[in-house]
Order: sequence, then structure tokens, then C-alpha cells
Amino acid sequence: MCGIIGYVGPTGTDVTTILLDGLARLEYRGYDSAGIAVLTTAGRLELHRRAGKLANLVTMLKNGSRPAPGTLGIGHTRWATHGRPDDTNAHPHPDCTGLLTVVHNGIVENYAELRQELMLAGHTFRSETDTEVLSHLIESYYFGEAQHDLEMSVRLALRRITGSYAIAVVSQEHPDLLIGARCNGPLIVGLGEHEQFLASDIPAILKHTRRIIILDEGEIAALRPDSVSITTLDGIVVKREPIVVDWDAEAAEKGGYPHFVLKEIYEQPQALRRALLGRIRDGQLHLAELTRMQQEGLLNNIQRIIIVACGTSYHAGLIAKYAIEQWARIPVEAVTAAEFRYSDPIVGPETLCIAVTQSGETADTLVGIRQAREHGAPVISITNVVASAITRLSDAVLYLQAGPEIGVVATKTFVTSVSVLSMLGLYLGQLRGRIPAAPMGEFLSALERLPDQIQHILDKASHSDDAIEPLAQHMAHSQSMMFIGRGVGYPTALEGALKLKEISYIHAEGFPAGELKHGSIALLDPETPLIAIATASHVYEKVVSNMQEVRARDARVIAIASEGDEGIRRHADDVLYVPATLEVFSPLLAIIPLQLFAYHTAVARGCNVDQPRNLAKSVTVE
Ligand code: AGP
Repeated sequence: MCGIIGYVGPTGTDVTTILLDGLARLEYRGYDSAGIAVLTTAGRLELHRRAGKLANLVTMLKNGSRPAPGTLGIGHTRWATHGRPDDTNAHPHPDCTGLLTVVHNGIVENYAELRQELMLAGHTFRSETDTEVLSHLIESYYFGEAQHDLEMSVRLALRRITGSYAIAVVSQEHPDLLIGARCNGPLIVGLGEHEQFLASDIPAILKHTRRIIILDEGEIAALRPDSVSITTLDGIVVKREPIVVDWDAEAAEKGGYPHFVLKEIYEQPQALRRALLGRIRDGQLHLAELTRMQQEGLLNNIQRIIIVACGTSYHAGLIAKYAIEQWARIPVEAVTAAEFRYSDPIVGPETLCIAVTQSGETADTLVGIRQAREHGAPVISITNVVASAITRLSDAVLYLQAGPEIGVVATKTFVTSVSVLSMLGLYLGQLRGRIPAAPMGEFLSALERLPDQIQHILDKASHSDDAIEPLAQHMAHSQSMMFIGRGVGYPTALEGALKLKEISYIHAEGFPAGELKHGSIALLDPETPLIAIATASHVYEKVVSNMQEVRARDARVIAIASEGDEGIRRHADDVLYVPATLEVFSPLLAIIPLQLFAYHTAVARGCNVDQPRNLAKSVTVE
């Protein structure tokens, strides 16, 4: 998704470096062109845009056109929605005069009618983007008869917009003014000493400041070197204290690993420990975040639970269905948010809706949850990003505490989502009096053992004689792979397949193991390897039968199995072992070799592991 960076500060600052550095830290969001606008000390607004990776823009600037130092600038990485990803459609987008320019993340839904209206009024459009209507709309108020000031012009323009936006606006006529605004798109303000920043998210400006103001929906911020004022679209002044972010700048860097994805896979024991921290104490479960909901009786009459999520977060939700139903005996449905939002869902005060979204900004999840709230459903959200949009739609928020996840593919946020959902399941089971103290103790201890067990898998994988990397290298030529599992092994198979296709671009599908013979088995041949989730479970024997069916078709079978299961070797060509745990927690271990397998396959194929093609970390458009 698009990334925004903005800067305003003292005369003679190397604004270009600040913008390019910020954009580099936003690359993980996914993009296909980049651009900057810098107001130089000579008073000229210079615009530079390039299709492709940020490196293309950097090279272009190195070859002679780098803007001189200045006071003010905005930068953007664009993930195309309206118009091809080329130089012309790259942001920033100037107005007709070239005196003001805009960057935007989101979608202007009524852009076609606004464009028509503005063209009739004499404005000339140069791009195919929806964003450009914003530049001309602001221009129409700023240079129009009423001669509104820049901030008012932005406000009036935004009142005409339907859709979503996070924007930054600068004008050649205001060397000390940077304007930002948001509605359903992320935007933060960073407070510095005689300088201020705007960004889509925290890592982009962490190098410069830790004092952050999170803008709320429909707010406009006017940043000057020594002040920041926030108002609503209606002009009402908003007072908001900054939060101080304690993220380590190092934590947002690769820390010695060749890729963020690998670093994040290896961070999972630590991330999981943080997710459990304070929530399991003295053998008891404490979800203090839910106390208020409980006191207000919002959890007393829950008849049904719907988990709304996308992608990997949806897979975490599918796993949680088993856990919550087992412990709380409440029927659970996990639904992809894009389907949920258009399904006219039957929800009400007795339906607990759980949003799972690591970014907290996924457009479909936000809309689905907003609808659920409108029907009176209580909402618990599970997210990794403090103060993200989903948190404002929730009665309670359970943070993943996974730390920043820069790789586009979700790894540590998957493991932490599953564990936080598991704790929520245990909490609801306890609330309903369905889990006696002894089994509860057993569940909590099993959860607490998981970080060490994941560490064990990772340590083993680091040894030179480990099987995962050579296996991945061997399989890297495959055109297609299949993943099967039963029970919680099924969503694990889905997640393993998703990881592989996302970063290695090999076609991969996950199936319920018993379903294979109803059609998909026709796809198997000796060139199509199959990975079976065959960890210890009540359906273990059934999975083994399905593996035999596959082997009978000469397909190569790789099993993910529990340590100690030597018998599985008879049914698989290769076995990747994980430590034994309770069946309900087995996905948290089985997924680790699958993540590593996908990673090494992608590296062997020379793929861009941290920023896979066509993908975005946070999908803020429908
Ligand atoms: C995960 O590897 C994917 N990149 C993607 O499926 C992701 O899980 C999905 O877009 C949901 O994102 P969210 O958790 O931020 O809502």
C-alpha cells in the first residue's frame, strides 16, 4: 500500500535525504513507483517521480537532478489502484499552477464525477489517478474567488471526497507549512526540535523522533517547524498529547539477517514470549484488556462468535475456531472480511465479533467490523499496531506485542495471533465455567513451553546438517505443490501454502486431507510434491491414510511430524520433525518448518523475499 512521508524544518535542511530515507523504511508496505517534492531554499517546488523501485528514483536524482537543500518536502511510494504504475501516475501530483502538490494513500471513490466537474471548470489533468482530483480541488478553493488559506482549502476539498485517504500537501507559497489529513488511511505526526514529520507509520521517522501523535479519522494537521495544530474537518480544534514510542530503531532493521522475513521467523520465540507476558502469571490467565467488557456484561450472553479477517489472519481465525469451540463450547465461524462485508451478516448483541488484523488497517476488515458494530455486536480486535484504525472500532483490543513486522509476509504476527486467540478462547471457556483448574493449568503450561519449542526448531534449522534448506533447494524447480491437513492441521496447510506462493511464486494449495480424493488428487503426479501436516492428533491415522493415497500416485510426500514418530518414515519421502505439544497448539510449531521451507525456496529461486511482487503489507483498499 502507498507510503507517505513529509517534513518541515529549518532553512537549508537536506530534505531529500530525509524523504528518501523515510520512503526506504516504508518500502515493506509494497509499491510500484515513488516520488518526492522538495521546496528548496531558493523557493522552488521541485518534483521528481519514477516508476518501479525506489532505487530508480535514487539513481535518477544521483544523475544530476537532486533538489537543493530546503525547508519542506513530501514523498510517496505508490501502490497502483487507478492508473498504471508509471512515471506520470506516480505521486506527488501537482495542481494546474504547479505551486501546490499532493500525495495520497487511499481511494477517492467519487473521483470520476469530481474530475468531470473540475475539467469543465478549466482544470487540466495530467495523470489517470484518482488522487489528482485532490490537487485540483484544493487549487480551486485556494486560488478561487474566496481565496481561502491553504489549510481551509484542504478542509473544503476533503469535505467533497467520498472514500478513504491519508494525504500530505505542500505549497510553494508556504515554505513553513506541511498539511496532513486522514480518513480510513494511516497517518502519524512526529514531533521534533524545530522540525516536524508526517508518515504512514512509525518506522519511517523513528530515526528522527519518538514523540508521535496518531491522527484520528477526519482530522487535519498543520505542521510548522515549531508547532503542530490539529483540527477536524469542521474546524474544531483537537488537543492530543503525543505518545512516546519505545521501539528500538534496531528492531526495525534486519539485525544481521539477509532478509527481514528470516529475521522475523527467528524472532518468533521472543515475540511469543512478549505476547504471553503478563497474560499468564502464576499459573493463571489474566486478560485485563477484557475486564471492562466483562464488567459491562458484554460477554455474558454470547451465543455465537464470528472471526473476521483476511489472509494469514484468517488462517489464524480458522485455527482459533477449533480452540474456542473446544474450550468455550460457543459456535465459531471464521469468515474472510471481503465476503463478510457483503453478506448482509446476521449479527447482533449476542454475536461476539473478533477482528484479527496485524496491521489494524485492512480495509475489508475495518468495513466488516464497522457493520457488525452498527448491528450492536460487541467487538474484540487483535492487532499488532498500537492505535491503528481497528482499535477505534473495538470494545477491547488485545495487542499481539510481536514488535514491528517489516517483511510483507506475516510470520511472527501469525504465531502471536494464534496464541492471543487461544488465550481468548481459554478466557471465554473459563468465563463459562467450562475449564476446571487442572486442565486450565495444563493448557497454560503448554502455551508457556511454546517459545522454547519454537526456539528448538529454529536452532535445529541453523545446523549445517538440517534438512529444510536442502529440501527447499531441491524443490525450488517445482511448478506446483500441495499441502494437506485435518483439524487444526488444515488451516496450517492453508498457511503453509500461502507462505510458499507469496514469496516463491510457486503455485501452492492447501486442502483438507480427506477432501483430496474428491477431485484435487487428479492434480498429483511425480512432479507435484505434497506436504502433509501429520503431527500427533486425534486424526493422525486418517492423515497417514491420505498420505498413502498420495504416494500411490508417485507424488513425493514430505511430512511435518511430531518428534518421536519414527513410524511416519514409512509413509513419507522426507520428514521434518517438530516437538510434541497439545493438538490445539500444534499449528504454532508445525508452521515454523513451513515458513523456513517457503523462505529457502524463495531464496533459491532468487525472489524478492521481503517485498514480493504485487503484495502489500497493509491492504488499505478494498
Ligand atoms: C500474509 O502473509 C499476507 N501478506 C496477507 O494475507 C495478510 O495476512 C492479509 O492481508 C491480512 O492483513 P492484516 O492481518 O494486516 O489484516
